[in-house]
Amino acid sequence: MAVTVTDFGTLENGKKVEKYTITNKNGMSVSVITYGAAISNIFAKDRSGKLADVIVGFDDLEGFVERTDYQGVTVGPYANRIGNGKFSIDGKEYRLAVNENGTTCLHSNGEFNTAVWDAEIIDENTAAFSYKSPDGLNGFPGNLEVKVEFSLTDKDELKIEYYAVSDKKTVINLTNHSYFNLSGFDSGAITDHEIMINADNFTPVDRLSIPTGEIRSVENTPFDLRKPKTIGEEIDSDYEQIAFAGGYDHNFCINDYDKTLRKAAEAYDKKSGRKLEVLTDLPGIQFYAGNFLSGQKGKDGKPIDKRTGFCLETQYFPDTPNRPEFPQCTYEAGEVYTAETVYKFSAE
Ligand code: BGC
Repeated sequence: MAVTVTDFGTLENGKKVEKYTITNKNGMSVSVITYGAAISNIFAKDRSGKLADVIVGFDDLEGFVERTDYQGVTVGPYANRIGNGKFSIDGKEYRLAVNENGTTCLHSNGEFNTAVWDAEIIDENTAAFSYKSPDGLNGFPGNLEVKVEFSLTDKDELKIEYYAVSDKKTVINLTNHSYFNLSGFDSGAITDHEIMINADNFTPVDRLSIPTGEIRSVENTPFDLRKPKTIGEEIDSDYEQIAFAGGYDHNFCINDYDKTLRKAAEAYDKKSGRKLEVLTDLPGIQFYAGNFLSGQKGKDGKPIDKRTGFCLETQYFPDTPNRPEFPQCTYEAGEVYTAETVYKFSAE
């Protein structure tokens, strides 16, 4: 087990970017670059022990800068969408930068994923990434100090631990936006993967993908993924919610949320035998099936086509700052936000 650091290129502004690679005793490895604290590669074994890179994305810095659909990145201070680009805390309204449809703040206008993070090796299986978000950037209150620790255990678990603290009362919701393809990044559509999501309910959205406030049962809908189903089985159904988002791109309410770590989802690829389990202490998980991917040049120069990767983004529900009925993520000045997500790999 070891962490190695290599050069990953230089940005136009002269800032250098590095890649931290953690390898465990089974030969599995995870790489994270300092640009966007983005996961660039995960080499995981198939049922015959063969390693493949299961992260869909880029092998050059230019890809992460120019051709991004948030591949691999750490998202914050507020992951996912805030409707009408505003929210209020204690009667004070905060207006955010809007970067979707002229009204929505999506993924905090890309703040965290366009920053170069400081990084350090903590021990032989952990690297920590930190970033300071200035007060008022994109409209979010407070100077926010963020630290994200990535560890790879000998049980083939990638553990991501998030810490953040602000000097003003603010909203905090951090996630990782990796696109997975368990057959390997260059293996085409993920629609034949099986997916299971441990959720009796999901949050329906309007045409702009903003939650309506309803918590709807998944029963008798394409969102009933409580028993494994192939992603493709109902992804093109005419159920209105599927039609609005062009497939799965929704927040699921993880069963029995109580702020402790629990199983949120599982994906399985019959071809390779690779399995991915996702555990989190957060209340929600966005299952996004890569519906909007549209052929950007990815690793090995190959196009990243529609539905060739899927995301399982653990999170507070989208638009929580405007939805008092959802589990809340407003933190007092000095109050520490923590969250943990585990991506566990195996093969059978
Ligand atoms: C959103 C998608 C969006 C993607 C890339 C996901 O978190 O749910 O709608 O296309 O991020 O921006």
